[in-house]
Amino acid sequence: MLSPVIILLLILLAYVYTAQILKQKKIWYTVAWIVMVLVVVFKDLVFLTPLVKGYVGFAFFYVVMITGALDPKWTLTKRLRSVRTSYSILGFTLLIAHPLSYSIKVLSGTIAIPWFGLGAFLVMIPLFITSYISIRKKMKAKTWSSLQKWAYLSYGLILIHLIVNASTVPNRIVAIGLFIPYIVLKLLKELKKK
Ligand code: HEM
Repeated sequence: MLSPVIILLLILLAYVYTAQILKQKKIWYTVAWIVMVLVVVFKDLVFLTPLVKGYVGFAFFYVVMITGALDPKWTLTKRLRSVRTSYSILGFTLLIAHPLSYSIKVLSGTIAIPWFGLGAFLVMIPLFITSYISIRKKMKAKTWSSLQKWAYLSYGLILIHLIVNASTVPNRIVAIGLFIPYIVLKLLKELKKK
C-alpha cells in the first residue's frame, strides 16, 4: 500500500511549505478538480493507480485525522493545523475520482457495492462543501463545528471499507496499522482533556 509514503510526503510538504500552501490554496483547489477529471477519463493509465485506488485521497484524510490527535503544542501540529482545511478539500476533490472510476463496475453489478466506502463518502459530502471558507462564513461557528464531528463516523467507515475492500492482505494490514496510532493518540488526548 502506497498510503504511508504519500502520507509522509504530505506531512513534509505541509511542514516546509505551510505559507505557500495557504497562499496558493485556490490554485491548488482548481488543479485538484482538473486532476480529478483527468483521472476519471484516463483511469486505465498505470501511473494514475494511486489516485484511482483512493490512496491519495485517503492519505490527505489521514493527515487531517492525525493532526487532530497530535499534541497542539508541537510546531509540526501547528503547521498541520493551518493547512488542515485545505488538505481536506484537496483530499476530497481528488478522492471523487475513486468512486467515479468504479461506478460502471458497481452499477453494472460486476463488483459488489462497497457499502462502507459509499457511507464514508456520503457523510463527507456536507463536510466537504462546508469546508470552503465562503460557505463556512455563512454558518454559525457552533453549527459548523458540530457538523464537523460527523468526520469521526466517516473515519470509522473508511477503516471498515479498507479492511473489507483492500485488494491485498498487506494493504489491509497497513490500513489497520495506520489507524492504531490514530486511535491511541486520539483517546489519550481526550483523556488528558478530561
Ligand atoms: C472516503 C471514502 C473512501 C476512501 C478514503 C477510499 C479509499 C480506498 C482505498 C485506500 C482502497 C484500497 C485500495 C487497495 O487496497 O488496493 C479502496 C478500495 C476500494 N474502494 Fe474505496 N474509498 C472510499 C470510498 C469508496 C466509494 C464511495 C467507492 C465506490 C462506490 C469505493 C470503491 C472501492 C473499491 C471497489 C475498492 C477495491 C479496489 C480493488 O480491489 O482494487 N470506495 N478504497
